[in-house]
Amino acid sequence: MKDVSSLTKAEAKAELKRLAAEIAAHDARYFGKDAPTISDAAYDALKARNSAIEARFPDLVREDSPSKRVGAKPSRRFAKVVHARPMLSLDNAFSDDDVREFLGRVRRFLDLDEGEEVAVTAEPKIDGLSASLRYERGVLVQAATRGDGSEGENVTANMLTLSDVPRTLKGKGHPELIEVRGEVYMSKADFASLNVREAEAGREPFANPRNAAAGSLRQLDPAITAARPLRFFAYAWGEASSLPAETQDGVVSAFKAWGFPVNPLMAVCRDEAAMLGFYRDIEAKRASLGYDIDGVVYKINRLDWQNRLGFVSRSPRWAIAHKFPPEQASTELLAIDIQVGRTGVLTPVARLQPVTVGGVVVSNATLHNEDEIARKDVRVGDIVIIQRAGDVIPQITGIVAEKRKRGAKAYQFPDHCPVCGSPAVREEGEAARRCTGGLTCAAQRVERLNHFVSRDAFDIEGLGSTTIELLHEAGLLKAPSDIFHLHDKREAVKAAFLARREVKGESKADKVFTNLFDGIEARRRIGLDRFIFALGIRHVGDTTARVLARNYGSAEAFTSAMARAVKGDDAALHELGSIDGIGDVVARAIVNFFADAHNGDEVKRLLMLLDVTDMAKAATGSPVSGKTVVFTGTLEKMTRSEAKARAEALGAKVAGSVSAKTDLVVAGPGAGSKLKDAQKHGVQVIDEDAWLKMIEGL
Ligand code: IVH
Repeated sequence: MKDVSSLTKAEAKAELKRLAAEIAAHDARYFGKDAPTISDAAYDALKARNSAIEARFPDLVREDSPSKRVGAKPSRRFAKVVHARPMLSLDNAFSDDDVREFLGRVRRFLDLDEGEEVAVTAEPKIDGLSASLRYERGVLVQAATRGDGSEGENVTANMLTLSDVPRTLKGKGHPELIEVRGEVYMSKADFASLNVREAEAGREPFANPRNAAAGSLRQLDPAITAARPLRFFAYAWGEASSLPAETQDGVVSAFKAWGFPVNPLMAVCRDEAAMLGFYRDIEAKRASLGYDIDGVVYKINRLDWQNRLGFVSRSPRWAIAHKFPPEQASTELLAIDIQVGRTGVLTPVARLQPVTVGGVVVSNATLHNEDEIARKDVRVGDIVIIQRAGDVIPQITGIVAEKRKRGAKAYQFPDHCPVCGSPAVREEGEAARRCTGGLTCAAQRVERLNHFVSRDAFDIEGLGSTTIELLHEAGLLKAPSDIFHLHDKREAVKAAFLARREVKGESKADKVFTNLFDGIEARRRIGLDRFIFALGIRHVGDTTARVLARNYGSAEAFTSAMARAVKGDDAALHELGSIDGIGDVVARAIVNFFADAHNGDEVKRLLMLLDVTDMAKAATGSPVSGKTVVFTGTLEKMTRSEAKARAEALGAKVAGSVSAKTDLVVAGPGAGSKLKDAQKHGVQVIDEDAWLKMIEGL
């Protein structure tokens, strides 16, 4: 990466743009989904580079610059809370010099004599999420997350489930009103056992304790939060009618007296040497602390000085976070392997000469995607820098350029799936490359088989995901067409079931099989729309499948048109592209699907085994044709999917929400906001019976 000092203005502009997008994407993952994909250190490095470029080219600072934001907007599920005092973040210090400069800035700002002592509290920086607890007359009335700093989420019910959080303040003499702020976190031990439980329940484990804490606090159901071992440390405050002391450590001591856990390691340092000594000491203790920390926070102890120092944009001038260096090491990149996920995404994985990073042996690291490899210009044989932070998957942050071997070739990302050999394509605007051999690719088999039998597809009774998994493991199911050959392998199927103890006893087994085989037989005859949906073509959901089915009418017409489109036949491509509701992206995905011979062959096999029924072409003369219809409330005479399919077959468009463009709302009992919206927009509302009458005989 080029040094900031040597960037041209045009390069700086382009890079600020890239950084804004990249940081925003990381923010969204971190704050919105509690699932970051890079380490904090790597994230900090991105922000630091952004600030350095902005400092050199102040006129290039973007409207959407990451330096203007604290975090992502709160997610919409909880009620919002506007913080009476914003919850700001801390400036970072990465070196002893940065700490020295911090003290220098404070002294200059306050215009202190050289002899004047500046006392500072020092405490670990907990890696959790901050929360603000509002107490009125000693009673907890509201708890909120930080959100974007100005507006957070109301998590009162959830916070009340933490035993570390007092419902009422202990002791006497607390202020009428005070917002106590601090960190919600999960201990490393609790995190480990939670992940064991998550894995046992078949859920994805959390990446690290902080994500687990955030994910647990932001549960809509407080009972779930209650079952998660969350803890709290109080270390700051927001709005307060008065304060119990004149120093930072005095207020924190009062918090302790009121019943809050406060960090036992907090100390008051009287000079720079003491601060740096504290930092080294905590760094040495870090691994044995029992909870994750990512640095030390220093705060000017005198509150009158804190007030005078105030804030600069998003962080206080009176505090700074002294971050620990990321845990890094360098090692040789032995190979880049491509893994194919269940959904067909190709992910590059770095195979490394094993190396110890932060006490853990690392032999694999993620390279994310093709662009990431190109951007870092990582080549097999390079000496790469590995970084680990917390329990995040190890990252490759860069290469040691001087050590590159002569003749090392730039990495060529494969354009074919390494598992099945089908073409792997990348759609515009997407980072991932995907295998197009969906129907037969071994990596995607189980996912595809599950989709194939799902409710809006073949919907085969007796063939759920457990059975699919079992038959796949037994080698009896590889591609969807195998389903319709299972009856020839009755004995093997039975053996697979009995081996897994899915069914006990022969007679019960017979019943299960009769159901399974009846279920399969019943679906040999299937509508063209369901058939197309079942293929699992990317971007082809049930609605698009129906549109295609209605346009082509028969399986024969559809597949032969696709075969022609694959060969580049203009008329076939044009027809596909001009179908209402089929955009460019969808059309390309369909052609890509059929361009893969594996898929084409499997479709042929299926068509020989099945009776795919024709679909009546879209009606035009019906009273609802061309109208936009919304169904809401409980329908009593048909299911939602039936209602939708029927309406669409009559040429109507079925929408999920009511707008001024809606022509008709069909409301059953229990209809709520959509009914109100209909009234607001003056849209005609009818009940289910009236609807049935309207379409009667059509
Ligand atoms: S003081 C006005 N003290 O770090 C600043 N923050 O980067 C108030 N954090 O949002 C924050 N441990 O989530 C403070 N001992 C500590 C902390 C701490 C962790 C977090 C907090 C804050 C972030 C700022």
